[in-house]
Formats: sequence, C-alpha cells, structure tokens
Amino acid sequence: MEEPIIIKVDHVSMKFNLSSEKFDSFKEYVIKSIKGQVSIEEFWALKDVSFEVRKGDSVGLIGLNGSGKSTMLKTIAGVLKPTKGSVKVSGTIAPLIELGAGFDMDLTARENVFLNGALLGYTRSEMEGYYKDIVDFSELGNFMDVPVKNFSSGMVSRLAFAIATIGIPDILIVDEVLSVGDFQFQEKCEKRIRNMKDKGTTILFVSHSIDQVQKICNKVVWLEHGHMKCFGNAKEIGDEYRKS
Ligand SMILES: Nc1ncnc2c1ncn2[C@@H]1O[C@H](COP(=O)(O)OP(=O)(O)O)[C@@H](O)[C@H]1O
Ligand SMILES: [Mg+2]
Repeated sequence: MEEPIIIKVDHVSMKFNLSSEKFDSFKEYVIKSIKGQVSIEEFWALKDVSFEVRKGDSVGLIGLNGSGKSTMLKTIAGVLKPTKGSVKVSGTIAPLIELGAGFDMDLTARENVFLNGALLGYTRSEMEGYYKDIVDFSELGNFMDVPVKNFSSGMVSRLAFAIATIGIPDILIVDEVLSVGDFQFQEKCEKRIRNMKDKGTTILFVSHSIDQVQKICNKVVWLEHGHMKCFGNAKEIGDEYRKS
C-alpha cells in the first residue's frame, strides 16, 4: 500500500522582480520611478515545477547554485507564495532554511532558544522541557549566555539544528545547514535525521555533498535554472548528476 501524499507541488512558478539599476538614495529611486525611469526586470527562479512527496520519503533537491533549490523549499515552508501554481502540505514543518534566519543576533543563545520555540509554536514550559536536550546536542553549554552575534557560523548551525529537531515534526527541511559544521557534528546531525526518519518524519534536504544526499534521501528533485530536469530515485539520479 502506498503512503499518503504529504506535499504536493503543483505547477509552481516563482517570479522575482529585479531592478537592474543601483540608486544612491531612496529619494533618487522615488524620483526616477515617478518619471518611469526605473526598469524592472522579471526573473523566474522556478518554472512550472511539479512533484509529490509521500509520507516517509526523504527528498533531496540538487542542482547548481542559483537553480532554485532554496526558493522551492521556501515555497513549501510557506515563506514565499508562488507566483503561479500551488503547494499543498499536510502536517507540521520544522524549516531550517537560512542559517540563523530565526535568530535575533543581539540576543543570547538562551533567549534565542525561547524566541525560536515561540516561532515554532511551542509554549515556554514546553521549551523549558526541551532546553537541556538543545544545550546537550549543540554542545554550547558554556555559551548559552553569549549573544549569538559572537558565534561562528558552525555554532549558529549547531544551535539552529538542535532547536529545529526538537519534537517530531511531520516534515523537516534542511537547507545546506550541515555544510558549515565540523565532520563530527555532521555525523551527529545525520544520525538525528535518520532517527526522525525512522519515526516517520518526511525530510527535504539540500547539501553540496551528493554522497550525503544519497545517504539520507530515497528520492531526488534535480533543478536546472528553475526547471525540474527530473524527479526520481536518489541513487540513479544522483549518479547521473555526478557525471554531468
Ligand atoms: N528574494 C529574491 N529576489 C530576487 N532574486 C532572488 C531572490 N531569491 C532568490 N533569487 C534568485 O533566484 C535564483 C534561485 O535562487 P535560490 O533558490 O537561492 O537557488 P539555490 O538555492 O539553488 O542556490 C537565483 O538566481 C537567485 O539570485
Ligand atoms: Mg540555496
């Protein structure tokens, strides 16, 4: 019996408006735009992308820089609304998209744990229950009262990963967050992702390492300049991508 569909990406296109000029000031921009001297260029970061993810699948998004992977993940997480088409998601999502996106850099790590918990929909007392696990997993015990702006990118990613993986979300999104940590921490994260998979969490995963994608994912979406080149078996398509 096939598992139910948990994510349906249906003919999704995403347009960004790019201004091709630089302005010295907002005033200059306003004046030029009133005079009709501002040229706006349309740029399609995703073009008619469709695929379905079933419960328990782990899907890797692969493609060169700028191919639209993060944009795709943001439309699934509901951060961006597609210009055309639709995305249907059934279940809770823990998005780990841009490093430290949910962090206030002036606050301490401890304060950010509770801030992020609130963003993820947890109550203060639930977060107090998770706090020790977050500190243990991130190995930041001595740094919890330090403002996050003083953290290295590796420390930020450890904290972000530890927070996003509390509880058991239906869907976990991991966008290149693992590439900044050291090797030992990457292995620890991979293990946690595997545990979540075993408990039924659906994973959407982006990494520069095709090996890592193939270790974690059973399926792959290959994006090329915003088009979906193919969707299917992670082993087959990953091997083909490596050769390209
Ligand atoms: N907010 C935005 N405004 C304008 N262009 C954007 C924006 N976000 C992404 N892009 C552009 O869309 C393309 C796809 O970006 P992205 O999804 O980040 O690719 P990837 O994650 O595969 O590297 C890139 O050319 C990028 O510059
Ligand atoms: Mg990206």
